[in-house]
Amino acid sequence: MKCRELIEKLDKQKSLSHEEWVRLISDFDDEDRALAAELARNIATQMFGNKVYFRGIIEFSNICKNDCLYCGIRCSNKNAERYRLTVEEILSCCQEGYRLGFRTFVLQSGEDGYWNDGMLTDLISKIKAQYPDCAVTLSVGERSRESYEALFRAGADRYLLRHETADKAHYCRLHPENMSFDNRMRCLRDLKEIGFQTGCGMMIGSPFQTADSLALDMEFICEFKPAMVGLGPFIPHNDTPFAGYGAGSVELTLFILSLVRIMLPDVLLPATTALGTVDALGREKGIMAGANVLMPNLSPTDVRKKYMLYDNKICTGDEAAQCIECLKRRVLTTGREIVIDRGDHKNYKHKNKNFK
Ligand code: 5AD
Ligand code: FES
Repeated sequence: MKCRELIEKLDKQKSLSHEEWVRLISDFDDEDRALAAELARNIATQMFGNKVYFRGIIEFSNICKNDCLYCGIRCSNKNAERYRLTVEEILSCCQEGYRLGFRTFVLQSGEDGYWNDGMLTDLISKIKAQYPDCAVTLSVGERSRESYEALFRAGADRYLLRHETADKAHYCRLHPENMSFDNRMRCLRDLKEIGFQTGCGMMIGSPFQTADSLALDMEFICEFKPAMVGLGPFIPHNDTPFAGYGAGSVELTLFILSLVRIMLPDVLLPATTALGTVDALGREKGIMAGANVLMPNLSPTDVRKKYMLYDNKICTGDEAAQCIECLKRRVLTTGREIVIDRGDHKNYKHKNKNFK
């Protein structure tokens, strides 16, 4: 079957066989990409109209016990200047964010043991008490099921944990021996069962990734049915073992984005900062290829340069307000507009009844 036919088949059946995925991911050309983008964009319009949701990311600690080979804040990177925001600093980011129109706060950090369950549940309760109309998304890595349950009870609504790759052998080449693919998958299943709107995702073009591993990613996403999928190109960081590898391709990232939209019509799909870093118009292109979410940085400007997962990350010198204005203009060029809305996944509207 031709790539064009495979894309049409995916649109009809919402799945492909492993061989079909491999074929599609290896053989597509610009015309196929344009077809997938058009289908994906139309699906996004059917599902969300011309709305694009905004989430404010607060990168509240870059201290991490893990040593992922691709990541700039890995524990072996002695050049990374470490920081940890205080609860007061995080709450003042939320205050500024609320004023700017954010109704979702994404709390992201390295795996920092200081933020134990008690500390995190206190923080979540405070944010939910002050901003009952806002969603809290956590992106704080692998934890126990009991911990995830406590965070959910405290009122967290969503959780982002990229699976990074659904190919176990590939996972082992991206992570040190003490990290386990099975535990990551366990975390994702626990999060979903507990009731979080759960996001998985992967880098595109990470070292040793093949069409076969991307096919496994698509099959995993198809089966897991996440509420959100985070996709961005791999970008090398100078102080990591992957410094010498090339960045992932914009075209492949956009194509995969479109395929995810076609496969899961109602999924929340961000045009990521990494996509905006490898291409000055990457986020606009992402929206044109089916993305419906943007996640501008709400972290204080003095720490932004320290949360460097990869080289040349954009928006590290800009104030939150500047990024919002910039993104509003950018979104308008795509014919869409930013809305003030929590932007929940449709299967989960106010599923977390702990706080309403
Ligand atoms: N390039 C692109 N994305 C990266 N991430 C970490 N390091 C890099 C990199 N060098 C992504 C991972 C992680 C998310 C928070 O950032 O997928 O899950
Ligand atoms: Fe940050 Fe454009 S989005 S400056």
